[in-house]
Amino acid sequence: VKLKNVAITIIGFGEMGRSFARVLLKKKRFLERERNIDLRVVAVCEIDGSLVNENGIGMKDVLEVAENKGFEKHKEWSPMKSLDVIRRVKSDIVLELTPSDIKSGQPGLRHIEESLKKGMHVVTSNKAPLALRFSKLQKIARDNGVKLKYEATVGGALPIINLRKHNLQINRIESVHGILNGTSNYVLTKMAEEGVSMDVALKEAQDVGIAETDPSYDVRGIDTGAKVAILANSLMDMDVSFEGIEITGIEDITQEAIELAKKHNYVIKLIGDVNRLEVSPRLVPTNHPLNVSGALNAITINSDIAKNITIVGHGAGGIETASSLFSDILDIIH
Ligand SMILES: NC(=O)c1ccc[n+]([C@@H]2O[C@H](COP(=O)([O-])OP(=O)(O)OC[C@H]3O[C@@H](n4cnc5c(N)ncnc54)[C@H](OP(=O)(O)O)[C@@H]3O)[C@@H](O)[C@H]2O)c1
Repeated sequence: VKLKNVAITIIGFGEMGRSFARVLLKKKRFLERERNIDLRVVAVCEIDGSLVNENGIGMKDVLEVAENKGFEKHKEWSPMKSLDVIRRVKSDIVLELTPSDIKSGQPGLRHIEESLKKGMHVVTSNKAPLALRFSKLQKIARDNGVKLKYEATVGGALPIINLRKHNLQINRIESVHGILNGTSNYVLTKMAEEGVSMDVALKEAQDVGIAETDPSYDVRGIDTGAKVAILANSLMDMDVSFEGIEITGIEDITQEAIELAKKHNYVIKLIGDVNRLEVSPRLVPTNHPLNVSGALNAITINSDIAKNITIVGHGAGGIETASSLFSDILDIIH
């Protein structure tokens, strides 16, 4: 059987870009044999330049230069920036994997808009553009006859967007709420289980690589708010932007509050409530399915036919989240 050639441009080669490359290497034979697909990466864009080869770039070499010598040592290196690559290099799918800037949505917004207008599908893990301009971006995609897919933006590896689209398509979604940020859940779990202060718990989260150097987006509920905005648009057909989400973080949660909750068989969790467009710390009974520990994420969907479903899993981690990127890519190809 002749393999179907699929050309991919990767924009942003940090944790997500590299994880995608690793999973692609690992699953190359599966994709060829079981799916008849030859996925070729034709461009990889970093902030100050790109690697371009329309015949395909070997992911092993790219990972090696990215980790050791630096990108500009690669033989395909050119100073061409991402927007020029989008304009000049024809690919089937653009993977947008740059950092999420919730204030401006850039550089992701521009990358996504430009790619869609060029007639290329987009798959992204970048929350900010979708949390800010969901309906506008989806309209651009429709107008250009291509798809914009974003399973990786919410809950990392958890299947939620495509779960609704495929398995739950007959359902009316009545409510969605959940734990959408692993760092804050890790901190709350540590405080409850070990009786430590928030500062100590946060320091530990940073030491084990769960929290960023600046974890304020996680602790203040901003990251959860961005995901609530995406879920509201995607699962419940609302038309809201991140600015419309009411957000209270966990920064004022004390050990005393956690102890008191524990005495009455409750835990305090940072909950994103999609119906109410709200993020806030809430009391959850210890025996409730949303009482997940550590950096796990959990989402409960209530719908008219399937009723209650709770999914639990890895809400972050490059390799785990790459599972969601591939879900979108294979969905587009088939
Ligand atoms: N890591 C995860 O587990 C995870 C899970 C779900 C969603 N996400 C989301 O996925 C996105 C990527 O995450 P990540 O962890 O891979 O972040 P990261 O490690 O910071 O990687 C982002 C990469 O994009 C590059 N970049 C920045 N501006 C660019 C531009 N204009 N053109 C081309 N490249 C540019 C950065 O280069 P410099 O370093 O030189 O600035 C960096 O290499 C983020 O939006 C994040 O929120 C991540």
